[in-house]
Amino acid sequence: MRIALLGFGTVGKGVYEIIKKAKMQTQGLTVSRILIRSGKKKILPEMTDSIAEIINDDEVDVVVEAIGGIEPAHAYILEALNHQKHVVTANKAVIAKYLKEFTDVANKNHVKFYFEASVGGGIPWIQGLEKALRIDNVDCISGIFNGTSNFILDQMSKNNQSFAEVLSKAQKLGYAENDPSADIDGVDIANKLCISADIAYNIKISDRDRLPIFGIRNIRSEDVRYFERKGYLVKLLGLTHKLNNEYDYVVEPALMRKDSLEANTPGNYNLISLNGETIGKLDFFGQGAGMFPTANAVVQDILDIKENKQHLERNFDEKVQYDANIFQQDYV
Ligand code: NAP
Ligand code: HSE
Repeated sequence: MRIALLGFGTVGKGVYEIIKKAKMQTQGLTVSRILIRSGKKKILPEMTDSIAEIINDDEVDVVVEAIGGIEPAHAYILEALNHQKHVVTANKAVIAKYLKEFTDVANKNHVKFYFEASVGGGIPWIQGLEKALRIDNVDCISGIFNGTSNFILDQMSKNNQSFAEVLSKAQKLGYAENDPSADIDGVDIANKLCISADIAYNIKISDRDRLPIFGIRNIRSEDVRYFERKGYLVKLLGLTHKLNNEYDYVVEPALMRKDSLEANTPGNYNLISLNGETIGKLDFFGQGAGMFPTANAVVQDILDIKENKQHLERNFDEKVQYDANIFQQDYV
């Protein structure tokens, strides 16, 4: 199986390194091409700055999009699918916006579009959610979906460091987005909630701009430590419910009791929970950001494609509507 990597940053390099691991050698995966920006030095023989060269290479089976952002990622993914190449991506921003289009184009071309790494980094969340949906309706998803903001809040409480100092540390560790405002203003969580709700409720959330999203930009170390003395940790949470044909949705900082699972989710870890009719509450915990956990999820998708493992088929139902009031009492 020949793989083209689009982008050679944190995630792209991580995928490249995992595929080179001794244990992976029997899997028959090869990175045959790597797209870099034009003008950048080609330090590996696989590198090219021509997307056309990759798209027109009949020997490339899977394109891994790891450049991030909306364009040209959206255009490159569509081109790859339309050239009968499977696509794997970790790019939640582009999926939250175009999941329906990518799904339709992949189906039309009889290829796969997989995106496990886009929500929860190394946690097999999409797979877990899809498994739950084989039996149950899922009516609630909640938790800590962003490693950078969780790392910032955690370090602010433990190390008495300022917001800016800890954010810079998260960037150096490869947790933060290219534009870290997506992490600290809740937009990255909104993208991950959209993707999760699209799958859980079989809808395509199209009214993203109306959804309430609050971040942690204005939280100070003294606030975090004040609440800690009172027995609470500040956590940035995402939450969505569905009732009949209506759903609600919010991203907001919340005070969690020190003995709760959320309060005990440290550093770059994520904790994502679902509620299903027969399974009840199911929690997923693990590293939600960083080079190797994320790359691991990307390589798992590539292996699923190689082994022809089918992920859930989607057929979005446009009848489900956003209603901010259906669970309003939960937020008071
Ligand atoms: P990154 O370190 O910034 O890497 C992106 C790479 O793509 C950079 O090397 C960048 O080059 C290159 N690039 C950007 N535009 C390009 C273009 N038009 N042509 C060729 N190369 C281009 O970002 P990352 O952390 O790897 O994230 C990649 C994607 O994975 C994002 O969608 C992100 O949201 C997602 N993700 C990241 C993590 C994580 O923990 N890092 C976890 C889950 C999902 P320059 O350096 O020249 O800009
Ligand atoms: N910037 C994201 C985070 C990467 O910190 O959670 C993982 O999606």
